[in-house]
Amino acid sequence: MNYARFFNKVSLARQPSITRVLTNILLQSPPTMISMATGMPNASLFPVIEGSFKLKDGTSFQLSGAEMSRAQQYSQSQGIPELLAWLKMLQKNMHSPPLFDASGAEQTKIIVTNGSQDGLSKLFDAVISRDDCILMESPCYSGTMSMVKPLSPKILDIKTDGNGLIPEHLKEVLSRWSPEDATNPQSNIPKVLYTVPTGGNPTGCGLTLERKKEIYNIACKYNLLIVEDDPYYYIQYKKDYVPSFLSLDVEGRVVRFDSFSKLLSSGMRCGFVTGPAAVLDRIVLHLQTSVLHISGLTQFVILKILELWGLEGFKSHALKAADFYRQRRDVTIDAAEKHLKGIAEWDVPTGGMFLWLKLIGVEDTYKLIMEEAQKKEVLFVPGNAFMSTDDPCPYVRAAFSQCSSENIYVAFERLAELVREHRGY
Ligand SMILES: Cc1ncc(COP(=O)(O)O)c(C=O)c1O
Repeated sequence: MNYARFFNKVSLARQPSITRVLTNILLQSPPTMISMATGMPNASLFPVIEGSFKLKDGTSFQLSGAEMSRAQQYSQSQGIPELLAWLKMLQKNMHSPPLFDASGAEQTKIIVTNGSQDGLSKLFDAVISRDDCILMESPCYSGTMSMVKPLSPKILDIKTDGNGLIPEHLKEVLSRWSPEDATNPQSNIPKVLYTVPTGGNPTGCGLTLERKKEIYNIACKYNLLIVEDDPYYYIQYKKDYVPSFLSLDVEGRVVRFDSFSKLLSSGMRCGFVTGPAAVLDRIVLHLQTSVLHISGLTQFVILKILELWGLEGFKSHALKAADFYRQRRDVTIDAAEKHLKGIAEWDVPTGGMFLWLKLIGVEDTYKLIMEEAQKKEVLFVPGNAFMSTDDPCPYVRAAFSQCSSENIYVAFERLAELVREHRGY
């Protein structure tokens, strides 16, 4: 594939940072290498010499002196090799990406980022120029909206339903162009499609395999990059994971974003991107000049947990997390049935941690939530945070990840009162 068409001028102008390149060379060199090249501080001055960590399951691990020294020192922009190797094994096991063993620009690679938000923002910074058309599912994760809007693209909303993004609507939107437009640099044909395929944020809905295949074929026809933002992949309520876009990608057009935030820790800030080398290399060039690399301590702690658990331990932890949120979902739906019948409409989430409620008889939820709800001591996110336009929006997002079961019932009771008062009875 020719990837140059996907990148804007800023991204194409990025050159490797010489000190980062030399750091990479040094870290792969034998101990006999004498380096007066990089400006690494002298590790003998770092204060922490060892680390000991206890896990909830009663096990523990140590960061040895050598590991702690590395964790506190500068490291590779793409991530430490041991963590990358573990992640490669994980991705092979979970997704069997068809292009892992390919060579050249399409070859599937992995890099570590400061949570998936960091990787996503660097990708959008690289591909969007002012007035570019970009395809985004609607409603759309507000964090992505916030990073994309200031880049001033024309956002083309693709409708979703209880099974996620609707392929027919994607086709309809793209029918303004012909697939040949993708070879014309003057054309404003969209280059990128963004979707959260599992446990959508804010909808809680997920794409079926049939839809993913259909969407992938459309992407091939129109030469689109698919941005698969999938932090809720492991929080699917059905035991069998729906295969990812990455697992379908025989052409090198899927950039997949995973995150440890929902499974291990959101504060440690660790996500990873899997996708074509040509795209990931652009993100790494940006990392080389922004954060340099993700916190070494974070990477070592996550690596140690993963090594301690092994693949099976990680999968069983992920199943426990999915089970936890499934129970929360069940309570949330029960509470909605009890308090919100006739007040709101919803699709039952199939994954993730959100319920997307359409309030009946409320044209726009912004004021209701930002002003009235606070007085009743209850908070939701007003739906327009997830929209590309400022049009009135009758939706709210309810997160059921942190509330106790009792509080979920109380929250919906208060929301019902609010809506009744708003309607005037
Ligand atoms: C759909 C989606 N993408 C990305 C993120 C950011 O995740 P991270 O903590 O890995 O940056 C979130 C966080 O809520 C999310 O819901």
